[in-house]
Amino acid sequence: MKTLKFLFSLAAVALAPAVAWAAPGSGLAGTDHDFSSKGGGVGVCTFCHTPHKALSTLLLWNHKLSTNNFAWDVPSTTAGTKYPTFKGDTYKGPTAKCLSCHDGSVAVGDIAWWNGGAPLAPLDNTQHGAGDAANVGLGGNMAGNHPVAMPYPYQQVKNTYNLVTTGSGFTSTEWVNDPTTNNIRLFNDDGAGNITAGPVVAKAGVECSSCHDPHNKASVDDFFLRGNLKGNDTAYLCLRCHIK
Ligand code: HEC
Ligand code: HEC
Ligand code: HEC
Ligand code: HEC
Repeated sequence: MKTLKFLFSLAAVALAPAVAWAAPGSGLAGTDHDFSSKGGGVGVCTFCHTPHKALSTLLLWNHKLSTNNFAWDVPSTTAGTKYPTFKGDTYKGPTAKCLSCHDGSVAVGDIAWWNGGAPLAPLDNTQHGAGDAANVGLGGNMAGNHPVAMPYPYQQVKNTYNLVTTGSGFTSTEWVNDPTTNNIRLFNDDGAGNITAGPVVAKAGVECSSCHDPHNKASVDDFFLRGNLKGNDTAYLCLRCHIK
């Protein structure tokens, strides 16, 4: 994967130095999430979604989920918001979908269904193991990672999400009221563990895809980012939610 990407970047530089390759916002084709050349050639959606025999109706998910239990190494954030624990194959937020490939426990091409048949072997055996920059949550260990599957203080009040409520130490004025106006995606939890996109007062939360768009359509910078990787204004990713 790395080598391929390196060769492609070299080719892109040599052939068209001024044109960015798979530019943010241009969609899936040519990105790290374009697996259409794998398994002898599949569709660009196949590694993640399937029209039939999906592993879950939710998102018509096709990629084998991780069975890891995810947890952080400390009980709470500075504000006192408890870090959650969640299981990769039961938590319904999109974070579990990302971790199914990024936590190193499942092959990237381990999918349920393709082209009228169940693949007997993964279409791509690559795994995001230890030492790989694209690994997040190896073995379920989320230490050192920004909160996800946790409440966002939407409308500057405490929110409850994934059974966690914003801690009493939070400073209301340090949070953007509604970051969805800044191209950020928030989610809501109906209280029974069902998660859908869009903020609902007192029920809003943050997932991996709050900061990243896996389809690269809503991205404005590299790494599928919904805000800029650099800078000091509200276009900068961190200031799209935090007021500091
Ligand atoms: C690398 C994995 C991946 C690939 C490839 C992928 N998706 Fe998705 N897709 C996701 C995830 C994860 C979500 C959950 C939404 C979120 O987290 O914002 C999603 C959500 C969706 C949704 C629900 C609406 C939405 O945007 O939230 C649709 C529809 C969808 N994808 C269609 C597609 C289609 C069509 C393709 C191929 C052209 C595709 N996806 C390729 C991972 C992927
Ligand atoms: C089907 C497996 C799969 C799923 C599901 C998946 N990814 Fe990836 N992702 C990959 C692979 C493979 C790479 C390439 C990594 C490498 O270069 O080693 C990648 C790369 C990335 C990158 C780096 C992009 C770059 O331009 O350097 C980011 C960021 C990312 N993924 C985030 C996510 C997020 C967030 C989700 C869920 C919303 C997700 N991924 C879901 C397989 C997946
Ligand atoms: C608060 C925003 C934010 C959240 C939430 C977030 N990320 Fe990221 N992610 C970033 C930024 C910024 C980068 C840019 C590179 C860096 O600084 O590591 C990044 C980089 C990455 C990369 C590429 C690393 C590399 O160097 O190739 C992957 C893969 C990734 N994120 C996956 C995830 C997954 C999976 C989740 C959920 C468990 C997640 N991210 C949640 C902000 C976020
Ligand atoms: C989608 C909105 C969002 C974005 C974008 C975002 N954060 Fe956060 N951040 C949160 C939430 C929600 C919390 C948890 C708040 C709480 O304690 O209840 C948090 C917590 C934190 C904390 C506190 C951790 C602790 O131990 O108290 C730090 C530091 C932080 N974020 C840094 C960053 C940085 C750096 C970036 C940019 C790479 C960033 N955040 C981008 C929503 C966001």
